[in-house]
Amino acid sequence: MPVGRLAIGDWFVPEGGFDVDRDVSRHKPVLLGEVVRFLNPRSEGVYVDATLGGGGHTEAILRASAPNGRVLAFDRDPDAIRRTGKRLASYGDRLRTIIGSFADLRAHLEEDARDARDGVDGIVADLGLSSDQLGNPERGFAFSLDGPLDMRFDPTQGPSAADLVNELAEDQLADLIYEYGDERRSRAIARRIASRRPITTTKQLRSAIVAVLGPRRRGIDPATRTFQALRIAVNQELAALDLFLDQAPRCLRQGGRLIVISYHSHEDRAVKHSFRARPNDEFHVLTKKPVVPDASAVADNPRARSAKLRAIERIG
Ligand SMILES: C[S@@+](CC[C@H](N)C(=O)[O-])C[C@H]1O[C@@H](n2cnc3c(N)ncnc32)[C@H](O)[C@@H]1O
Repeated sequence: MPVGRLAIGDWFVPEGGFDVDRDVSRHKPVLLGEVVRFLNPRSEGVYVDATLGGGGHTEAILRASAPNGRVLAFDRDPDAIRRTGKRLASYGDRLRTIIGSFADLRAHLEEDARDARDGVDGIVADLGLSSDQLGNPERGFAFSLDGPLDMRFDPTQGPSAADLVNELAEDQLADLIYEYGDERRSRAIARRIASRRPITTTKQLRSAIVAVLGPRRRGIDPATRTFQALRIAVNQELAALDLFLDQAPRCLRQGGRLIVISYHSHEDRAVKHSFRARPNDEFHVLTKKPVVPDASAVADNPRARSAKLRAIERIG
C-alpha cells in the first residue's frame, strides 16, 4: 500500500492536543455534502448514523430531514455519546443515541420502540476515529502526544494497546503490525518493542519504533503504521466492519441507502467486496468507483485525504 494512502497520521493534532474539557467537537465531518446528497433525507424518514463521533453527519441529516426526520446514532465511545448528545439536545426525541457497536446494528434496531425495527431509510458509517479522540492525550491514540497507551474506543472494555504490546508474543505482535499496518519492518519493530517492555505510554512506543526506522520517512511519521495497526487490533475494527456490512443492507427499506466512508485499504476492500456480493435484483451499487474529496476539501480538512465513500441502494 502506498504511504500516501495511510489512514491517520496525527500531524494535524495541535501540540498538547485539543482542549478536551469543552463540550464542543473539533472533528470536521468528511464528505458532508456527499453524504447528504446520497441520503437525500426527508421529514418522516428514519436514519442511522453508525458512528456519531462529533455529530457532524448526524446534525446535517437532522437539519435536512426537518421537521420530523429521526436519527438513531451509535458510538462505542461513551464520551462521544455524552458530549455530542448534549450538543445536539435541542433536537429532542428526533435524535436517539446508543452506546454500542455498529456490529450489533440489527439487535439495536429491533429494540427501537418506534419504527426503526421495520427498516430505515438510510445508514451512514464514517469509520475509524474522530479528531476528538485523536487529540485527547488520555486516549492514547496519538503518537504526537504523550499519554497512556490505550486506544480503546470504549475505554471500559477489552484489552488496551499497552496490554497487547506487553503481553503478545513477539511474533504475534510482528504479524499484527504487518497485517493491519502494512509495515514492512514489523519484525524488527516487534523485536525492539519486546526488548523494551513494559511499554505503557505512547511516547515510549514511538521511541521504540524510531529506534528501528529513524525519525521520519517521506514526510510520514515512522510510528503511523504501527499505531494504526494497534488501533485496528485493539478495537477489532475489521471484524466489527464485517458484521456491520453483513447486517446493514437488509436493515434498509426499499429505496434506502447505505453509505460507508473508509480511511484505509483494508476497510475499503471489505466495503467494495461486500457491496458487489449483494444480489443485483435487490441492491444497486451507486458508486462504481469510490467518491473521494476534492483538493479544496483535503486542504480544509487533512483527515479527509484518504477518505473513500461507497454507497448502495436497496431496490428490491
Ligand atoms: C470518524 S468518527 C465519526 C465522525 C462523525 N461522522 C462526525 O461527523 O463527527 C468515527 C467514530 O466511530 C466510532 N466507532 C468506531 N468503531 C465503532 C463501532 N464498531 N461501533 C460504533 N461506533 C464506532 C468512534 O468511536 C468514533 O467516534
